[in-house]
Amino acid sequence: MPIAWRAFRGAADRSTVMSVTPHTVRTVAEVMSSPVVVALPDETVAEAATRMNDRTVGSVVVVDGTRPVGILTERDVVRLAAAGPSAEGTKVAEWMTPDPDCVEPGLSVQEAFVSLGTHGYRHIPVVEGSELVGIVSLRDLMRVAAIQPVVHPGQIEAPPGLEGVIVAETKVGDVRGLEGFYHYREYSAVELAGKRSLEDIWFLLFEGHLPTRAESDAFAAEVRGLRQVPEAVRRLLPEVARSGGPLMDRLRSAVSLVGHSQGFQPWLDIPPAELRSNALVVCAAVPTLIMALHRLEQGQEPIDPDPELGYGANYMWMLTGERPDEERARAVEQYQILTIDHGFNASTFTSRVITSTGADLAAAVTGGIAALSGPLHGGAPARALDLLDAIGTPDNARPYLVDAVTKGEKIMGFGHRVYKTDDPRSLFLRDVAERIGAEKVDFAEQVEQTVVDVLAELKPGRNLYANVEFYAGVVMEHTGLPRDLFTPTFASSRVIGWCANILEQAADNRIIRPSARYVGPPPPQPVPDPA
Ligand SMILES: CC(C)(COP(=O)(O)OP(=O)(O)OC[C@H]1O[C@@H](n2cnc3c(N)ncnc32)[C@H](O)[C@@H]1OP(=O)(O)O)[C@@H](O)C(=O)NCCC(=O)NCCS
Repeated sequence: MPIAWRAFRGAADRSTVMSVTPHTVRTVAEVMSSPVVVALPDETVAEAATRMNDRTVGSVVVVDGTRPVGILTERDVVRLAAAGPSAEGTKVAEWMTPDPDCVEPGLSVQEAFVSLGTHGYRHIPVVEGSELVGIVSLRDLMRVAAIQPVVHPGQIEAPPGLEGVIVAETKVGDVRGLEGFYHYREYSAVELAGKRSLEDIWFLLFEGHLPTRAESDAFAAEVRGLRQVPEAVRRLLPEVARSGGPLMDRLRSAVSLVGHSQGFQPWLDIPPAELRSNALVVCAAVPTLIMALHRLEQGQEPIDPDPELGYGANYMWMLTGERPDEERARAVEQYQILTIDHGFNASTFTSRVITSTGADLAAAVTGGIAALSGPLHGGAPARALDLLDAIGTPDNARPYLVDAVTKGEKIMGFGHRVYKTDDPRSLFLRDVAERIGAEKVDFAEQVEQTVVDVLAELKPGRNLYANVEFYAGVVMEHTGLPRDLFTPTFASSRVIGWCANILEQAADNRIIRPSARYVGPPPPQPVPDPA
């Protein structure tokens, strides 16, 4: 079941979840202090404070006989001094917290901890019936168990990898893992890829509705006009290209330069319309930057974008300088459409986290590029093709895969955090690969079936199927894209999804700042003197 973070915000009955390892589950009776330092209601605060000091305790329980009727803490004494009245002239009864909450000795340490944390108490009297038998402090509890200190009363514990945790509300889109379905603003992404241009879908994500014909033409003209890389960045690109490393690294630098050269400001300091126009600049420039960096690295001159061409055709044009075959250009564009957005994946989340700090748009996009570059996220399509090469022949598929999975290796292009059935992007791209007659498609289909069978045998119950990356490589290779452009091509359109999320985050922002459980040695350890 997903856990909704937001549901805990401001909830009246917040519950605090903390872990106490099973062997440390103990009761209050074992950790409470007894006998209790007490005071009488008629005593003065000065007398009670002296006793606290002498007995080095942080509070006294005020009793009537053996029944607790109040609690007076060090903090109360300090507040009294600050308020003006003298401690000598003030009775304990006048300044104590009357009718304090109490706990029973049989209560677990964990529950007592919740009670203290929820109410913000540091001490809580322990009663049996109505008789005072002890007092338990936050410090007593902390001493006995590996308990998470209460930082926030609504603190909850999230599973590793935040699996299933809902961290925001979005209207950009959603992934339904069990149904094998995902959508962009209520329209099936797969159906959109079949029927509409990438620019129409870009408009949909930014504006919230599919464009009319007139809107579509106007938007295409607007964004095609932004494809050129700003002059200041063009001049620097040869240097960036020469800096080496994977193209995704250089793309990060180039996007930073675009933001800087265009004077992007932290979004907190600019109106929403300016942030939107920053987003259009970056989304339009990224495909051009990718191809320019690629060509420069090959020792070739970059090719200027062509505003007459559609999104995919222009992308392929900038690779070769030749008018691309229409079918291949459409295949690339359909891949780019399918990868625009996909729920709260790691790179989208990264972009939103950076945006939540108020940083500028280029900062959030470079973070997204960094997250996407990892092999577990966007770095897999080239590795999936490498896998096909390594397997070589259909006969070798089974022994190769059994060996790899037995050794604990991950088969690239398979498995997904959300999909527990066929990934709809993979099914669509398999059809595209068949349609365009990709050389490796038959072999890839045989390998796919073998991987699914081997994983079902060796990893039963995990429901592992081909993900978007498996056929992406097959399609991209056939269209003429070299392997080092596979992940950048993923980024070329995912930037639109990041930006739609950045705009949404900025429109309703709260800084994203979770917590971690400290599991190191118990603090504070004495700081050794310098040797
Ligand atoms: C996508 C991915 C990162 C999702 O990770 P996740 O949700 O954290 O899932 P886990 O890694 O915990 O996998 C769950 C189990 O399935 C296994 N598994 C998942 N994907 C696997 C794969 N591709 N090959 C072999 N085993 C896999 C894991 O080993 C694990 O087994 P265990 O229960 O014995 O430990 C993961 O499936 C993966 O690494 N796939 C390969 C990389 C890839 O294709 N990335 C592109 C994603 S679009």
